[in-house]
Amino acid sequence: MVSRSFKHLSLVVGLLSCATAFAQSAKYSGVGRAPSATEIKDWDISVGPSGKELPPGSGTAKQGAPIYAAKCAGCHGVDLMDGKGGPRLRGGEGTLTSLRIERSIGSYWGFATTVWDFINRDMPPTPVRGTLTHEEVYALTAFILSKNNIIKEDEVMDAKSLPRVKMPNREGYVPFNPVYKKDAVRPHGSY
Ligand code: HEC
Repeated sequence: MVSRSFKHLSLVVGLLSCATAFAQSAKYSGVGRAPSATEIKDWDISVGPSGKELPPGSGTAKQGAPIYAAKCAGCHGVDLMDGKGGPRLRGGEGTLTSLRIERSIGSYWGFATTVWDFINRDMPPTPVRGTLTHEEVYALTAFILSKNNIIKEDEVMDAKSLPRVKMPNREGYVPFNPVYKKDAVRPHGSY
């Protein structure tokens, strides 16, 4: 009886190793295809701090105000502070070193280009995501930056001016590859 179960066991083990060998040698021909240039372009929308990926277009806070009222205020509040359906988009300046940290675009974000990128890729959310034009995204970015007192109301935001905007917390980040002097006190949170 015992030897019989062992026989079965060895059969199972034998089959399993066959399956593994099969999986390793399988060629997935006919599955998937190389993405087209247009598909890669549609997917590749990230905008970094240099802003070199920013598309043509421009906008001011004045142009952004009515778009914000129509498409954003419902979730982010008329004064950008309600945050009933989304986070507040201003406020919290000076709280990062306090016990009650409030992270907002004005108090926390390091690059103005990230504001453009975030709105462009994600706002307003599903099911209407991706419905803003590039011009509208520039105008909304200008509106939010102006409400944070980072730029003036009439300043034009485009691919050139947006990367030049200095965010209040720009220097608050540890560099990507920090160099510490021996025995120097390291900033909180960096190891
Ligand atoms: C249906 C509600 C809703 C609408 C409408 C909406 N948002 Fe949002 N928004 C959210 C939520 C929820 C988040 C947080 C999601 C996340 O961080 O992934 C968010 C996050 C954001 C952020 C990042 C804020 C942060 O500090 O993390 C920005 C900027 C933003 N929205 C801008 C806009 C703009 C501009 C519009 C109008 C075009 C808009 N949102 C419309 C719900 C909404």
